Amino acid sequence: MPKRCLFFSVVAIIVVVIIVGVTVPVVVTRNSHSNHPPLPPANISIILPLYIYPAKNAWAPVYEKLNNYSYSGIEWTIIINPSDGPGEELNSDYRINIHRLNAARNVKLVGYVFTDYGRRNVADVEAEIAKYASWGLFQGIFFDETPQGHNQSVEDSITYLETITSNVRGTPGFLGQESVVIHNPGTPAVNPKLLSLGQNFTVVAEDTFAAYGSPADQQSISRLSAGISRTELGCLIHSIPETESQQGGLDGLLARLSQTFGHVFLTDRTSGYYNDYSGIWNSFVNSTSLMYS
Ligand SMILES: *[C@@H]1O[C@H](CO)[C@@H](O)[C@H](O)[C@H]1NC(C)=O
Ligand SMILES: *[C@@H]1O[C@H](CO)[C@@H](O)[C@H](O)[C@H]1NC(C)=O
Ligand SMILES: *[C@@H]1O[C@H](CO)[C@@H](O)[C@H](O)[C@H]1NC(C)=O
Ligand SMILES: *[C@@H]1O[C@H](CO)[C@@H](O)[C@H](O)[C@H]1NC(C)=O
Ligand SMILES: *[C@@H]1O[C@H](CO)[C@@H](O)[C@H](O)[C@H]1NC(C)=O
Repeated sequence: MPKRCLFFSVVAIIVVVIIVGVTVPVVVTRNSHSNHPPLPPANISIILPLYIYPAKNAWAPVYEKLNNYSYSGIEWTIIINPSDGPGEELNSDYRINIHRLNAARNVKLVGYVFTDYGRRNVADVEAEIAKYASWGLFQGIFFDETPQGHNQSVEDSITYLETITSNVRGTPGFLGQESVVIHNPGTPAVNPKLLSLGQNFTVVAEDTFAAYGSPADQQSISRLSAGISRTELGCLIHSIPETESQQGGLDGLLARLSQTFGHVFLTDRTSGYYNDYSGIWNSFVNSTSLMYS
């Protein structure tokens, strides 16, 4: 073997050793997430956007979970959205099924109201709040598309959000001592000043699993979560790939999410995210229940 060739062979072997030495442990560490999930720092509650029309048996997959003793530790916040808002009147399909949900001890029902990132007229928003309150069946309101503090001055966003939040609290008719208010700006790029305006928690990530994992989002989320308790943060993550959900993979994902979020919903649906049950519905609820032990 000529010397040059020997030299290159030695270099090649060293390079291979380095590559194997660096990548194998990385791959093993990543895979070990699913086999040995790190202990979650705390439990999470499920936030379920239940936008399925309550035809006969349509909500049965939810009752099945609520009635299963193995899952009795889970706290649920369920968002009801009859008509892109409350609509005019609740029909009997809704009334019967909402009563059934409310019969569960560990469920809070909130009504869906969109705010169009703060562009929607406050009077229209307040009329929908009043409508939900008048039915005496809800604990509070989920405000969708709340301002992110970018396209208007942050002061305007604060005023808007404080106005509608205190409107909920001041409107009689919601169940419980104090009503529940959730804001959904849906992005970790939200101005942190908008996270502590009296709401119970804020959904700061409503996105695909891939976007959630992007460096930009991860950096913003670390920045946000440094200044606020995880019980005040929620996420709705859709398009969960099969590689994350198979064979106990959700245990690891939930354990990681629980370090940042107190309120979580995961789905593998890639469109109409909340209009039907997802392929991971059973395993998501099961994995969540395991965090309560
Ligand atoms: C979740 O954990 C918190 C403490 O971090 C505890 O106060 C709460 O009772 C737990 N919730 C459930 C349903 O176990
Ligand atoms: C309740 O949940 C447990 C745990 O996942 C499951 O094994 C069991 O089949 C469920 N029971 C019913 C009646 O669905
Ligand atoms: C805010 O402005 C940006 C840039 O003009 C735009 O892309 C985005 O859709 C706007 N967001 C809202 C909520 O209006
Ligand atoms: C929601 O927030 C209000 C006001 O801070 C509080 O009184 C209430 O207990 C909270 N509800 C829940 C379910 O955390
Ligand atoms: C729930 O999770 C446990 C532990 O991973 C597993 O043994 C069980 O089969 C799961 N049950 C269901 C119904 O998925």
